[in-house]
Amino acid sequence: MHRPSWVPAEVDLSRPSAARVYDYYLGGSHNLEVDRRMAREAISLWPDLPAIMQANRAFLRRAVRYLAGRGITQFLDIGSGIPTVGNVHEAAQQAHPGARVVYVDSDPVAVAHSRAILGGDEQTAVVHADLREAETVLEDPAVRATLDLDQPIAVLVVAVLHFVSEEDDPFGAVARIRDRLAPGSHLVLSHASDEGRPDAAASHRELYSRTPTPMTMRSRDEIARFFDGFELVDPGLVWLPLWRPDASDAAQHPERTTGFAGVGRRG
Ligand SMILES: C[S@@+](CC[C@H](N)C(=O)[O-])C[C@H]1O[C@@H](n2cnc3c(N)ncnc32)[C@H](O)[C@@H]1O
Repeated sequence: MHRPSWVPAEVDLSRPSAARVYDYYLGGSHNLEVDRRMAREAISLWPDLPAIMQANRAFLRRAVRYLAGRGITQFLDIGSGIPTVGNVHEAAQQAHPGARVVYVDSDPVAVAHSRAILGGDEQTAVVHADLREAETVLEDPAVRATLDLDQPIAVLVVAVLHFVSEEDDPFGAVARIRDRLAPGSHLVLSHASDEGRPDAAASHRELYSRTPTPMTMRSRDEIARFFDGFELVDPGLVWLPLWRPDASDAAQHPERTTGFAGVGRRG
């Protein structure tokens, strides 16, 4: 099987990965035939998928702009994915040229590509780590060198917690991060739900069981539990396109995105 030069040696070319499939949905070029095959199959079952991913990405940018506009200059983006246009550091540094960002992902391609495009930028760092090991993320030397955890930061867990099953204690992982945050810090979260389109969600879950990171869809009430210890900012936990939309984000059927989004503030 041909291994493109940008694919690290440890990557199993025979299995699709969530990071690379997402890259394909967003129109990126860091995906393999096995990813494209799975993505095309998913789109044939659920043609809204690329638009859903774009709605997720648009939420991420709006949330970063919102927080940067409120003086947040430090961002920890966990499950950051393969960098694509409109990255967190670009949105944050537009508002604050000195903004600092750490990208964390468990996928080797996402990490390698992030390092390739960010190498030499002293305001950003890239860490290969797993959200489930929250302490390891927070104690990572690159995180500690780039971010001051005694000052407010924004932690992003955008479209990643649905890749962590109950047995891996996603609520505990978020709580352990929360407990280390200074007052005034924020949690930015989006999460796939089986509310909205239960039929499509079931086939989607089946497809992702082929990847190393199967999906766990959660209800809105379950997703709201991630915000324990945070105060949700307006408009609360809502369908992706409804979180402080720009004029261009208007969606006729926001529930068709089947993803909830919210931002919480730690008092
Ligand atoms: C759908 S992408 C989301 C990328 C970006 N956050 C966004 O919303 O545009 C999900 C990312 O989460 C990463 N991921 C999945 N499970 C993870 C874990 N336990 N720890 C860290 N990253 C994880 C995947 O490798 C993938 O890059």
